[in-house]
Amino acid sequence: MMMKFSSLLTTFVLLAPSVTFGTGTGSRVALYNDPNDLPTEEYDFIVVGAGTAGNVIATRLSEDPTRSVLVIEAGVDDTDVLPIHVPFLAFDNIGAKVDWNYTTVPQKELNNRQITVPRGFTLGGSSSINLMIWTRGSRDLWDHYANVTGDSGWSWDPMEKYWNKASVPPPNDPTLSNGNGPLLVTLPNFPSELDGKVINASKLLQQENGADSRFKYTVDINTGDSLGFAYMQELTGHGERYSSARGYLHPALNSKRPNLYVLIQTRATRLLQGMNVTSDIPYFNQVEVAQSADGRRFKFRARNEIILSSGAIGTPQLLLLSGVGPKEELEGLGIDVVADRPAVGKNLREHPMLITIYEVNSTKTSDDVTRSPALKQQLLEQWENNRTGLFANTAGSALGFVRLPDDQLEGIQDSASGPNAPHVELLYADSFLPVLGKQPATGNYITVANIVVAPKSVGSLTLESTHGDTFTQPLIDYNIYGDSFDVQAMLQVANDSETFFSTAPWTEDNFIVSLVGRNSTSIGATEEERIAFLKDNTITIFHPVGTASMGSKDEDVTDARLRVRGLKGVRVVDASVFRISRLSRPPTGP
Ligand SMILES: Cc1cc2nc3c(=O)[nH]c(=O)nc-3n(C[C@H](O)[C@H](O)[C@H](O)COP(=O)(O)OP(=O)(O)OC[C@H]3O[C@@H](n4cnc5c(N)ncnc54)[C@H](O)[C@@H]3O)c2cc1C
Ligand SMILES: *[C@@H]1O[C@H](CO)[C@@H](O)[C@H](O)[C@H]1NC(C)=O
Ligand SMILES: *[C@@H]1O[C@H](CO)[C@@H](O)[C@H](O)[C@H]1NC(C)=O
Ligand SMILES: *[C@@H]1O[C@H](CO)[C@@H](O)[C@H](O)[C@H]1NC(C)=O
Ligand SMILES: *[C@@H]1O[C@H](CO)[C@@H](O)[C@H](O)[C@H]1NC(C)=O
Ligand SMILES: *[C@@H]1O[C@H](CO)[C@@H](O)[C@H](O)[C@H]1NC(C)=O
Ligand SMILES: *[C@@H]1O[C@H](CO)[C@@H](O)[C@H](O)[C@H]1NC(C)=O
Ligand SMILES: *[C@@H]1O[C@H](CO)[C@@H](O)[C@H](O)[C@H]1NC(C)=O
Ligand SMILES: *[C@@H]1O[C@H](CO)[C@@H](O)[C@H](O)[C@H]1NC(C)=O
Repeated sequence: MMMKFSSLLTTFVLLAPSVTFGTGTGSRVALYNDPNDLPTEEYDFIVVGAGTAGNVIATRLSEDPTRSVLVIEAGVDDTDVLPIHVPFLAFDNIGAKVDWNYTTVPQKELNNRQITVPRGFTLGGSSSINLMIWTRGSRDLWDHYANVTGDSGWSWDPMEKYWNKASVPPPNDPTLSNGNGPLLVTLPNFPSELDGKVINASKLLQQENGADSRFKYTVDINTGDSLGFAYMQELTGHGERYSSARGYLHPALNSKRPNLYVLIQTRATRLLQGMNVTSDIPYFNQVEVAQSADGRRFKFRARNEIILSSGAIGTPQLLLLSGVGPKEELEGLGIDVVADRPAVGKNLREHPMLITIYEVNSTKTSDDVTRSPALKQQLLEQWENNRTGLFANTAGSALGFVRLPDDQLEGIQDSASGPNAPHVELLYADSFLPVLGKQPATGNYITVANIVVAPKSVGSLTLESTHGDTFTQPLIDYNIYGDSFDVQAMLQVANDSETFFSTAPWTEDNFIVSLVGRNSTSIGATEEERIAFLKDNTITIFHPVGTASMGSKDEDVTDARLRVRGLKGVRVVDASVFRISRLSRPPTGP
């Protein structure tokens, strides 16, 4: 099993008992933490999951004072959880009380290692624990969604206005894609020496190879053309994390909206069919909830609709437990089949991430900070004081999106969503990230995340035979490297990283000293060695999608308006709907 991220937080709690989180985001008064306290059992809409998507839809729906909205969230209040709000401490949330702590089943192609699957267990969901990188994706990706749903409303042009409704760049970054929403997006608050080198290397490679350099530099990755290297755009405006709770839910609760009810520390356990409704197809209008596995069950009714926003793990689990899924699979588990929907839990996609760590000839990385309680304390006080300094920044601030070389795609179906969409993402952090091993006691390091963002491997989510309810973890199988295309793509990424590091910004002053792999000091010389290195040093980058995917065909779980097919009363609005498979693009080349 993979080791857990080390916890810096313990040190802070011990060192800084007087530190309080004082941004005024708190709204405890309007939160319910006991189902008994809710004034009524019936609401117009019930939103299951106060995560990234759920908070947006719940607050937008409740702008109309005639609609009542109940939000049910399994996790805890985010208000006083310091590492949620301090950008630099984001990794401390993984494996902590705000994480669901899922793991995959043993991954065959990763030497049977089990990979951790962090998911936010708090208001804001995974937007409260993620790395805050704000990317809209490519024009090709959204046009692909339009294609698979048969609904042009999903394509880039009409979608752009919704991006603009979500985020706003700060006035000091006029170059960025604009908008006027509640999420404060910013360029890095505290860029490092490393970030400057990444940008300089891409500019250099562009000078050498021309405008179509695979490593070109770009100012704004959010224009629809997402290829190139750039400073990240981050949800860290004013030096704080802008989760969907910070941007949407808390402001609505603070304004004392009387028609918005938020119940926390309570899990939806099943959807139930209406008692008094007549319908030609199954009609769900009740949500059963509980606060513990053997605790009392409560039921809440939705007059209008149940909206699932429990995420790519939680949503398919809830559908399966409610009898919506592959008929034979459900029968085998002894669950009454309400609707035979074979694709529920299938089409699971995740991005493999190869971690390469290098010792560097520099004293400017943040390794010395993460090793020193005194320095951490000082930086935390600075952040408390005026939201500046290293702690106002995420772990890394430069990234690249790259396509595989054309010759690698000849004769095979391209896995990217279009000819201008990336296959590869590269992220850089200026310290030893303890994701595969412990930070050494001395030395300065950089961590590179080499990611395949257009993988072909398809996994699945199923229920354990003694499936219990949503208090039992489902079986998550990402099937990492199950398709050999992904191994070939990752080999190419590893080579790309080596090409990148052979340029002047890295070779001058011998910046890169040596590779620190888990069990080796080189990626390897032969392909066999390199594949062995990949298998030993790959984890994933927390982007599961597809388990309740949308599309125009009957086999798809939801239609283009995200209503679950074969049912009435239920819609899915989270990352489960993103449909990556069934690419319609034919193979290119001879
Ligand atoms: C560590 C990490 C780093 C990441 N970094 C980035 C990044 O930098 N940039 C980026 O764009 N993406 C990043 N991602 C991915 C991104 O955060 C997710 O894709 C996105 O947040 C998913 O949103 P969602 O609404 O589908 O689900 P979530 O935001 O996970 O929301 C689901 C919510 O439902 C709740 N829930 C689940 N089951 C139940 C139930 N039965 N009853 C009640 N409530 C339930 C959960 O507690 C949660 O609050 C990262 C993810 C992680 C975990
Ligand atoms: C995840 O693990 C942490 C640390 O053990 C724990 O506090 C938390 O409650 C766990 N999350 C869930 C959903 O059980
Ligand atoms: C989707 O793309 C395919 C192949 O390019 C095309 O034939 C088809 O008409 C498209 N479908 C829609 C609904 O746009
Ligand atoms: C990047 O290049 C610029 C211009 O040559 C230079 O001033 C700067 O120091 C370089 N940055 C780093 C981190 O090397
Ligand atoms: C069904 O209708 C009866 C009579 O109108 C009502 O008392 C009861 O609450 C309804 N039950 C549900 C689950 O809606
Ligand atoms: C923020 O506070 C620190 C001390 O904690 C100080 O050194 C720094 O100058 C302040 N920055 C601004 C922009 O006020
Ligand atoms: C990557 O580099 C290795 C070693 O230099 C080489 O054998 C291999 O062919 C390269 N692979 C690709 C896909 O370029
Ligand atoms: C480290 O960098 C310095 C310049 O910053 C250089 O003088 C020195 O030779 C480098 N050390 C090594 C081991 O390459
Ligand atoms: C690599 O090292 C880890 C311990 O750091 C060990 O658990 C693992 O089995 C090793 N893997 C291989 C392929 O040698």
